Amino acid sequence: MTTRNSIEKLRATLLGKTQSNAMATGASHDVAHASVAESKRLTARSLDDIPPAYFQFKDFPEYKEYTTMQWYCQKQSFPQSLFQPHAGASDANVTIHGREFVNFSTYNYLALGSDERVKNAAIEAVRTFGAGTGSGRSITGEIDLHSAFEREICDVLGTEDAVLSVGGYSTNAFTIGYLCRNQDLILYDELIHNSALIGCKMTGSRRFSFPHNDYDALTQLLDQHRGNFERVLILAEGVYSMDGDIPDVPKLVEIKDKYKALLMVDEAHSMGVIGPRGLGVCDYFGIDGKQIDILYGSLSKAFGTCGGYVAGPSPLIAILKHYAPGVLLYGASPTPANAAAALESLRIMREQPDRARRLQDNAAYFIQQAQTAGLDTYRSKDSGVVPIMMRDSELALWLSMKLWENGICSYPMMHPIVPRDKTRLRFFINVNHTHEQINQTIDLIGDLLKVAPKSKGLF
Ligand SMILES: Cc1ncc(COP(=O)(O)O)c(C=O)c1O
Repeated sequence: MTTRNSIEKLRATLLGKTQSNAMATGASHDVAHASVAESKRLTARSLDDIPPAYFQFKDFPEYKEYTTMQWYCQKQSFPQSLFQPHAGASDANVTIHGREFVNFSTYNYLALGSDERVKNAAIEAVRTFGAGTGSGRSITGEIDLHSAFEREICDVLGTEDAVLSVGGYSTNAFTIGYLCRNQDLILYDELIHNSALIGCKMTGSRRFSFPHNDYDALTQLLDQHRGNFERVLILAEGVYSMDGDIPDVPKLVEIKDKYKALLMVDEAHSMGVIGPRGLGVCDYFGIDGKQIDILYGSLSKAFGTCGGYVAGPSPLIAILKHYAPGVLLYGASPTPANAAAALESLRIMREQPDRARRLQDNAAYFIQQAQTAGLDTYRSKDSGVVPIMMRDSELALWLSMKLWENGICSYPMMHPIVPRDKTRLRFFINVNHTHEQINQTIDLIGDLLKVAPKSKGLF
């Protein structure tokens, strides 16, 4: 056997056949991939029979749904509130077209995106390194801010290592997308974020969702299927981004340990927000970050900037850094401004835990006032995400527009983001919201719902 063959064989043994093939061809886990010879055996319909809906965007069904919505908004004389540019920062208040709104639609939970120290750190980094790093991290795109953030996030979470990456969505998707293969199984909570779902789709793995927070259902799936697969990945969120509830992470750890599975927790909405020090699920439950195999976080929420990270055992981080496309490989590195802002925000989170506690108090106050007014805040507890359930898309849209007219910004979450009967308005609570702003908002919602038009069930 030649040296090259024996190296290939070793690689195949180490990585599993699918992955080494995928790496060699670049057709990563691509089950739809076929050779030219195979493609010749497929029959095709004639060109005359291809309907416009297959090649004209205006006939795509989602465009039809979009135009129905536009038509409805115009008919109701709703001001169009999507894609409106804001001036200045977006935190508890935001200025749009010269008008100030109370803002319940920003992820900037701790107002760190507009904090002078964070802004100055970003400005200083741009002065030092420029607006970009010039390439991917593994070549000359590395700057010491990347590793400084990684060291500090490990310090906070108690993990061995971490990797900082350019996008929040992409880090989640590509981490999952790389770690699982055809011969693996993914079990995910039915409410996980789209970035995780897209990651799952990339894998070619067998996938089952389990009902939200239903650990008996998860255990049953593991009892039945664990033995048939190689790697088994369980996916949950630290705070669910639509419902604002927190799963029983210690229970998930117990289950994954028992079944020799891997647990990944998406901390996009929990890091910086929950726990006595605001430092995420480990802080909230008093557990060691080492107990969770993969801790993923987004930098666009409490960190107030942009990017993503994964923290976990050193071998995991080595794998992600050296093999996973889209985490670091084949892509640009986080910009100096983003890396510096993330690092400064992390330092402020650690130094000033009272920010998270103020946010938590505001959220508890919002829920208490809403429930007293007879509104349904669904499962939200201890987080910065509070839904007010409408369960009807037209009503949610109408209420959101009426709030907008009255200077309050909260967007409706409708199909396909949530099921139609779970339509709601989502409120992101901010450290700088005042009780007065919360009272005004709840009172106004109560008054508006008394005069809401009857839904026609259009969408
Ligand atoms: C739960 C969750 N995970 C991941 C992401 C993606 O993060 P980013 O906004 O940083 O791309 C989001 C974004 O909204 C999210 O809500």
